[in-house]
Amino acid sequence: MNHEVTFLPTGKKTVIRAGTTVLEAARKAGVHIPTRCAGKASCLMCKITINSEDSGISMPTTAEEYKLGPLLASGTRLSCQARVMGKAAVIVPEDPLKAAVRRQLERQAEEDLW
Ligand code: FES
Repeated sequence: MNHEVTFLPTGKKTVIRAGTTVLEAARKAGVHIPTRCAGKASCLMCKITINSEDSGISMPTTAEEYKLGPLLASGTRLSCQARVMGKAAVIVPEDPLKAAVRRQLERQAEEDLW
């Protein structure tokens, strides 16, 4: 069975087979999620956020429970471990470097107004 996954904030979507990891779905959708451990749940770079109430995402794995601890309660998951089990929407955090550049440009724009 196939399911649609939407990646926010871009709104990019893909349709993938049930049981596919969110990381694999992101790659298919052309959404970049950084990784260093090739999906072994050790680098913690592939974090995403889900709305746990209506998520079509699998329950957390033992590795996620160990690595994320209390972050799980706020919807943080590892995209390399979380699997798509139904229609789902996931939030991909902004790349830290892009976020820093964006903040700098916003500060510069505010200064230019004065
Ligand atoms: S890819 Fe490294 S923890 Fe998910």
